[in-house]
Amino acid sequence: MKKAIALVLAGMTAFSLAACGSSSGSTAASGAATTTAAAASTEGAPAASTEAAAASTEAAAAVSTEAGSAAVDLSGSKYLSDGVLTVALNSTFPPFEYVGDGTDDFKAITANPTNATGFDVAMVNEIGTRLGVKVEIADMDFDGIIPALGTKADVAATGMTITDERKEAVNFSDPYYDATQSVLVKSDSTVATLDDLKKCTSVGCQLGTTGETVANDNGLKVNSVKSFNQAVLDLENGKNDAVVIDQIPGEAFTKQYSDLKLIDGSEFNFDVEQYGIAMPKDDEVMLNAINSTLADMKSDGTYDKLLEQYINNYEAE
Ligand code: ARG
Repeated sequence: MKKAIALVLAGMTAFSLAACGSSSGSTAASGAATTTAAAASTEGAPAASTEAAAASTEAAAAVSTEAGSAAVDLSGSKYLSDGVLTVALNSTFPPFEYVGDGTDDFKAITANPTNATGFDVAMVNEIGTRLGVKVEIADMDFDGIIPALGTKADVAATGMTITDERKEAVNFSDPYYDATQSVLVKSDSTVATLDDLKKCTSVGCQLGTTGETVANDNGLKVNSVKSFNQAVLDLENGKNDAVVIDQIPGEAFTKQYSDLKLIDGSEFNFDVEQYGIAMPKDDEVMLNAINSTLADMKSDGTYDKLLEQYINNYEAE
């Protein structure tokens, strides 16, 4: 194997690509190594994930659905007075939102017309229950979500980072989750530092995300696509050398693809971000209702139960 890599490298005109382990220039060498890694780590996976699915179904049943203590008057809400909370999301972001296999018994799935499930879906379902409104999910491209607020959807719950730029266009709820960008690579990749990342010829991102901004700000050669599923597939098939993605979804993809590893954002000095529920600016009643419901869910333990169920116990399907 060592000999093969040496030969490929020797044959390459741009030697700088060497630091980017799975770059398309070294397909022959990295392809062989990957196959071995994938075969080794697939063993035992089916049994493990079946048990986990059974365990989290029980947890779902145990989550309390009792309404919050204070009834909220929504008659003055521009978007919620019709009794429906339409939630925009992009379902390529496990474990916050992803499309289940359709056989799960999660309340989150049965309460919605699509198969989207995950932490954000469970969180908005709980908010809807407590506010006494019906929750409808609108699954769409991430870069179309902010423009859709106020027309196609009332809010967005989609692991969306609160940024000053977005705050010019929308309101955000109080933060509900801390996150950082991180980097997904093939297990045999030699990428370890920002300098290595800069030498990569194709760094996958999702269009319109903060990961894309971070990648551009650091001068990376960005390959932006509509969905994280596609960016990760492009990593799997050798088109991308790396993918910039939020930490927890990055970990989720390593569970789905055993030949991938995740490098912590701290290795690249990426900042901490915070997720919030985004919504149009012209509905203070909705903003206050959502914030007080979130606060209730945090103080009565429901929020932690959902974290435990959907994030800590996530198993790839
Ligand atoms: N946190 C990042 C951002 O706000 C990525 C969010 C991507 N979410 C998704 N559902 N695809 O830009």
